[in-house]
Amino acid sequence: MGYWVFCTEKLPEPEQNGTHSMASVTSLTASVHQRLADALSAALPEAGSADPLLRRSDRADFQANGILALAKKAKANPRELATQVVAQVESGDVIKDIEVSGPGFLNVTITDRAITENLAARYEDGARLGVPVADHPGTTVIDYAQPNVAKEMHVGHLRSAVIGDAVVQLLEFTGETVVRRHHIGDWGTQFGMLIQYLIEHPHELDHKGGAVSGEEAMSNLNRLYKAARTIFDSDEEFKTRARRRVVDLQAGEPETLAMWQKFVDESKIYFYSVFDKLDMEISDADVVGESGYNDMLDETCRLLEESGVAVRSDGALCVFFDDVKGPDGNPVPLIVRKSDGGYGYAATDLSAIRDRVFNLKATSLIYVVDARQSLHFKMVFETARRAGWLNDDVKAHQLAFGTVLGKDGKPFKTREGETVRLVDLLDEAVERASAVVREKALDLSEAEITERGAQVGIGAVKYADLSTSANRDYKFDLDQMVSLNGDTSVYLQYAYARIQSILRKAGEVRPAAHPELELTGAERALGLHIDAFAEVVAEAATEYAPHKLAAYLYQLASLYTTFYDKCPVLKAETPQQVENRLFLCDVTARTLHQGMALLGIRTPERL
Ligand code: ARG
Repeated sequence: MGYWVFCTEKLPEPEQNGTHSMASVTSLTASVHQRLADALSAALPEAGSADPLLRRSDRADFQANGILALAKKAKANPRELATQVVAQVESGDVIKDIEVSGPGFLNVTITDRAITENLAARYEDGARLGVPVADHPGTTVIDYAQPNVAKEMHVGHLRSAVIGDAVVQLLEFTGETVVRRHHIGDWGTQFGMLIQYLIEHPHELDHKGGAVSGEEAMSNLNRLYKAARTIFDSDEEFKTRARRRVVDLQAGEPETLAMWQKFVDESKIYFYSVFDKLDMEISDADVVGESGYNDMLDETCRLLEESGVAVRSDGALCVFFDDVKGPDGNPVPLIVRKSDGGYGYAATDLSAIRDRVFNLKATSLIYVVDARQSLHFKMVFETARRAGWLNDDVKAHQLAFGTVLGKDGKPFKTREGETVRLVDLLDEAVERASAVVREKALDLSEAEITERGAQVGIGAVKYADLSTSANRDYKFDLDQMVSLNGDTSVYLQYAYARIQSILRKAGEVRPAAHPELELTGAERALGLHIDAFAEVVAEAATEYAPHKLAAYLYQLASLYTTFYDKCPVLKAETPQQVENRLFLCDVTARTLHQGMALLGIRTPERL
């Protein structure tokens, strides 16, 4: 069972409570934006609802850059227009100061009170931290974490699982209905050989001593695969029997199907053990592999042929594209049905689209799949569009990810040049992380070190993946991943744990907001950054870009570190200030916790 035994809580389910009971909090950015937009349309009515282009800025709290372009369009003097806008802005509760700068920018400073009150409202809202749900949530079907039956999971399967899981959490947090689909590779001619072997050696997958572990399941499958392969390559008659078995499988012959099911079941034991190690919840109902669409394949072909989207070419049913050509300049079609009548990957994916759109009522389809399959998806999506299954209301998107590279910058391989087994990689990460935890641990028991080691190690692997934008390759460098300094999950986890330790040390003194207090620069910077959480979550969700959330959290931890260096918390000057700083600590911690949970990463209370 691995480290799971030591975990006291379930996966950090991003807390959704309070979604509907509490009001979402209007961010300071949004209120300032609104005030400026109103002032702008008062000063320049023909501008309508023009965007003041508000940005966070180092010089003031915010800078509005939109006046220049508007003035140009209205043939007005930008500085004059800016001055008129300033005159229209009502300052007071939120805006402390607004001034024209440079050729026509506006610098806006927020009141300390507004910052603290805003954070207090977020604090009141519990785990949601005032983050609103989307105005018009839809239904997204997301295809991720799709290993292949009877095959070892390798480093490529890591990315799909990690990125997919983060996108699921992000979307659900914004109110989207999410349907997960693990499109496992559980069908195809390769099963003929395996099934035939199992029929001839019927006890090879028996579990004599009761349940088997994931590792045992995979080693059973490996052993069987190697044995089958050896006979297949050396025995012509076996080869013939294996080929005939493929036909039986496709015809749904019961004994053949029963044997096939054994491979699927054995593989699932293994998959679930890996997902468990990855601290990821995958439920059986969501595992709908390629075989799940068998009943739809004929009809999919018929629909494509009748509508003229697909045509016969050399006996095969094909879809052609003007812009898809092979190296010889000849068009390369998407083959929906082979000339021997067999169906492949494309027919399954096209049928899955029909299922997802018409049965699951999806409004968005996401595929978290290696960029090397981009041409396949481009052709599949275009085919579905021509058939009318996808359109402006139902869009499909491949969230294509890059390759995991070794330290040498080449695709990650073992020293022997083989693909790296995912479990080995995860075990090593956990081992390294445990060493780091042990070294820093002052008051942790051995069991706690083991538990934290897993949380830190798996977190490190996930964070390294999620902090680079998905389409880029990244280097798998464990030294860097478990480093305490720099853009790593460990750094974020330590920031969180440090806050918890301060809150524990505070004892009876509880965090409390004091909007009447003046704030220091470091406090303001921290507060304004926390205010931006909702916007970052919304952006990361709509763009399917968890790396934007990761970057935000890293900056949050950095701003917290600065605050912590500059502002004594428990030794602050007045009791009110102590409470207010504890409050800042706690809002930071909650934001870190929720943000990390959205990335699928745990934040241990002690490290
Ligand atoms: N099983 C495939 C692989 O390991 C990924 C499946 C991707 N999803 C899909 N709908 N084609 O490469």
